[in-house]
Amino acid sequence: MTQDELKKAVAKAAVDYIQPKLDNDSIVGVGTGSTANFFIDYLAEIKGSFDGAVASSEASAERLKAHGIPVYDLNSTDALVVYVDGADETNPALELIKGGGAALTREKIVAAVAEEFICIADGSKWVETLGNFPLPVEVIPMARSHVARELVKLGGDPVYRENCITDNGNVILDVHNMAITNPVEMETAINQIVGVVTNGLFACRPADVLLIGREDGVETVR
Ligand code: 5RP
Repeated sequence: MTQDELKKAVAKAAVDYIQPKLDNDSIVGVGTGSTANFFIDYLAEIKGSFDGAVASSEASAERLKAHGIPVYDLNSTDALVVYVDGADETNPALELIKGGGAALTREKIVAAVAEEFICIADGSKWVETLGNFPLPVEVIPMARSHVARELVKLGGDPVYRENCITDNGNVILDVHNMAITNPVEMETAINQIVGVVTNGLFACRPADVLLIGREDGVETVR
């Protein structure tokens, strides 16, 4: 199977997984990226069975609206029954690296609100130790050099992501060469750097369920 076929398989599995949890009042949190895009396309097939969605990016909001799915502001919603999103890496504890698509801050906010966070990923995203994928860090533009120096002190090798402004008007530093043996500690330490908006470690709030696409089918990991 191609990587896209695996992404489609987990996207479809996610719709099958959430459908019994939905009713006419349910609002679904929706992530960002190519796997999340496949999820949106399958979600549209059951759009009569839930109220609407909250999106973690402008791009996902546009795709949802194009399918006729109502998109709500997070502040106008009381609860999100689920949040479904992809990842750049996942370890066996379902701690993630996210933010390859620069949507990490809104993704982390929506994940924080959701009752259940379902990660969907093709098998290439599975790792024993996080950090092979460069860790995205969203930074207030004027703090970029300061944050980069502090990230070097934490053992990383930050690289400014060219031509990338986030939906929040900020910039991204991608931190290379960091073996993240204690993700909760590292997520917390990076958050303490003044000028950091969010980092792409989802360890303090990991996924609750992982649907991972492998050659022999979609595996559910909890
Ligand atoms: C965007 C993300 C994505 O979930 C992550 O980059 C995975 O993307 P894809 O599904 O295209 O492989 O965190 O900020």
